[in-house]
Amino acid sequence: FAGLTPQQRVHAQVASNIRAPGAVLLGEVPREAGLRRAATMEPRAIIAAIIASGLRGCGGAGFATGRKWEMAAREEASRRVVICNADEGEPGTFKDRVLLTERPHLLFEGMTIAARAIGAAEGILYLRGEYVYLRDHLEAVLAERRAAGLLGHAILGCGGFDFDIRLQLGAGAYVCGEEGALISSCEGLRGEPKTRPPFPVQRGYLGFPTVVNNVETLCHAARILDLGPDWYFAMGTAGSHGTKLFSVSGDCRAPGVYELPYGITVGELLALAGAEDAAAVQVGGPSGVMIGRDSFHRRLGFDDLATGGAIIVFNGSRNILEIVDYYLAFFVHESCGYCTPCRVGNVFLRQAIAKFRHGHASAEDVEELRTLSATIIETSRCGLGTTSPNPVLSTLSHFPLVYAAVTRPAQDGQQASFDIQSA
Ligand code: NAI
Repeated sequence: FAGLTPQQRVHAQVASNIRAPGAVLLGEVPREAGLRRAATMEPRAIIAAIIASGLRGCGGAGFATGRKWEMAAREEASRRVVICNADEGEPGTFKDRVLLTERPHLLFEGMTIAARAIGAAEGILYLRGEYVYLRDHLEAVLAERRAAGLLGHAILGCGGFDFDIRLQLGAGAYVCGEEGALISSCEGLRGEPKTRPPFPVQRGYLGFPTVVNNVETLCHAARILDLGPDWYFAMGTAGSHGTKLFSVSGDCRAPGVYELPYGITVGELLALAGAEDAAAVQVGGPSGVMIGRDSFHRRLGFDDLATGGAIIVFNGSRNILEIVDYYLAFFVHESCGYCTPCRVGNVFLRQAIAKFRHGHASAEDVEELRTLSATIIETSRCGLGTTSPNPVLSTLSHFPLVYAAVTRPAQDGQQASFDIQSA
């Protein structure tokens, strides 16, 4: 780790702490087997294979990857684009960093397969600003691929299969992981989300049909082309096929990245990570849900507990309201400020939580938390605002006693008050 700053060294060390029982992405991966197969296939057949595999987006939302590619391929356009979203910014998520560090060839292979499927000649890897230390490493891998005929003109000797990838660096804004803001940032604009529809597959980068996929999704796509859709479809659950990378951190003995089939329970994952005294787990990072011991039997996947992969473990000594406040402070800081519900609402939410933390809350304030959260979710423009109240809502539902313990009984006519000046 010579030459790295202390923060970068911590990143790099965690990245090399790979835990992968039964790994598909993190085990031994044959080079270019998927791309070689894709190069012999019709684009339609590639898309059909991805659809048949059941692959869903691994950034968190779980949209069907094959359907996304199909929509982009179907649009009439002179130019199409593949963007890899490597702006993982969800607190507690670091699995894409592991893939960028340990499996860059697999990622670029997946991007190249996506390009063949949709007919794109242009690819962008949008790299999180905090991962700048990976730039030289990734540029070297791209250069190696160009020299090996895996990027550029007539890839693998196939006439008409032209594709190259450039790196675009973010500058530290969480919201730029949202695909519209990410595209704006690539276009040289301020990193603000775009109104959807149109979705990027219809009008994305510079107005051209664009597939935006997470790092992990593209790595899975390359493995699927190699081993076939049936192999992938057979793993996991009815609604979530294949394996998933989980970034486990917090109060556990073995933090790191775990690759496991979808459908594993939270309790099973905690046991692997040495988190026997876990009292609460934040599944999916701050924009996900916080659950308690009575929910550790629940299954990770889109049928039950959906997650982009962040698993943050808290033992019984942690103060839940303090954690909620910390997450809200994060959202307040990261809001792009474009829409009022997100810019102002999250400040109000934080003020409301402060009343509970300082023992000034009444039963009406619980209702105010719910109403305010519902308003922010319903009226915000992008995913940041529609998920930012989740720390409040999920702790209200899974840890009601935490709130009850610091709440005064209701009094007629009493209203919760919010300081609009500071919003
Ligand atoms: P979304 O569900 O709106 O969209 C997911 C994807 O499907 C997008 O690429 C979108 O373009 C596509 N899509 C959805 N409907 C479509 C349609 N009708 N036609 C064509 N394409 C369509 O979710 P969004 O807002 O993009 O992402 C939210 C997720 O991001 C949350 O689940 C959250 O957990 C996750 N997230 C992940 C972070 C990370 O660091 N990995 C950070 C913050 C949030």
